[in-house]
Amino acid sequence: MKIVRQGTPQVVGAVCAVIFLVITPGCQTNQRSKTTVSNEPTLKDAYKNYFLVGAALNDDVVNGKDPNAAAIVEKQFSAITAENVMKWQIIHPLPNKYNFEQADRFVEFGVKNKKFIVGHTLVWHAMTPMWVFRDANDKPTTREELLARMKEHIATVVGRYKGKVNGWDVVNEAITDSGNLVNSPWLRIIGDDFIEKAFEYAHEADPNAELYYNDFSLDNPAKREGCIRLVKNLKSRGVRIDAVGLQGEAWRLESSNPSRKNLQAFIDAMSELGVKVMITEMCIDVLPSASFYRGADINYRVDGRKDINPYVDGLPDAVQQRLARRYAELFTIFLQNADKIKRVTMWGVYDKTSWLNNWPVRGRTGYPLLFDRNYQPKPAFFAVVKAAEKQLTAETAENAEKKIK
Ligand code: XIL
Repeated sequence: MKIVRQGTPQVVGAVCAVIFLVITPGCQTNQRSKTTVSNEPTLKDAYKNYFLVGAALNDDVVNGKDPNAAAIVEKQFSAITAENVMKWQIIHPLPNKYNFEQADRFVEFGVKNKKFIVGHTLVWHAMTPMWVFRDANDKPTTREELLARMKEHIATVVGRYKGKVNGWDVVNEAITDSGNLVNSPWLRIIGDDFIEKAFEYAHEADPNAELYYNDFSLDNPAKREGCIRLVKNLKSRGVRIDAVGLQGEAWRLESSNPSRKNLQAFIDAMSELGVKVMITEMCIDVLPSASFYRGADINYRVDGRKDINPYVDGLPDAVQQRLARRYAELFTIFLQNADKIKRVTMWGVYDKTSWLNNWPVRGRTGYPLLFDRNYQPKPAFFAVVKAAEKQLTAETAENAEKKIK
């Protein structure tokens, strides 16, 4: 099966409501058809009884440079996350300099369009300038100095968007694959209570905001155990934590990555601890893996491997369909756990601007999202919508049966 489009990408994308669909078995083509479907389904409607469906936005989506992407977001998604503009390196590049312009725009866009707004991220070792950890003599700061900087940063950023940003990724990627704490400057200088301090400061800055811990590979048993310890520790100290975000960054077509068993075990473990699960940063990589590495550490890079870029001219139909099936499989697991899941967020809006085009190998042509390079919904999009419809039908039948009994 193959989706074929009509019209210039700009025009078609701007009116995302208009989808041109033709089913042409087994061929890869750019022919255009005239079939118009006016009642395009939307993710936010299909999932409204289950959980929020979000997307990470780059600045172009909200600054007017990419209106087609903005139109998709307005129509399709119920939540938005700042892909980069709230990271320390961008919002607070120098000790006494904040750069709020892009973050303000992102938040305004969310308020205007009534989206659930997620701030990403307050404390992380990556995309954080080195000055944060150095004193005036270029020596590591003391614990007190670094805590004061962290507090000031969180109070300023969270305080500015108080009542507007609904939830914050307070700490990002602090657990190693073996379940210990990452050996970051935060840990080395402050000690392992840096995490609870970050949550406390965020809570002080906006007592009504939801607070999250966010990380990749949390479905792996050893990392899951580390996450359980972390959440238990925060809870035992009375620190507010509402949910844990499982990044779906380096997820793949193979059903082992992530596996149903590990996903379920992670979801159940978080639920037992009284926190919701969010699938954050979801995308499914269809490109050959560059190595055995399965995490999503942004510092991990494989360069000089442009050879592993097989789909420059388009995605073969068989892979397109496999991607759709994999998306349906994963969303079906989420739907079956909808009472424990708060949100599923795609890391990006459409394939052209996905970060996987440049990670871990630079300059590849990736296909990880639900909308293609021309802003069109992919078979994976329809598979995700269908998964929700199927779930609803099954529940309706089950309820009807219960009533009869
Ligand atoms: C990525 C962005 O998508 C890229 O644009 C940027 O160049 C690097 O960071 N885990 C995270 C995200 O928590 O913040 C990262 O986002 C991807 C991995």
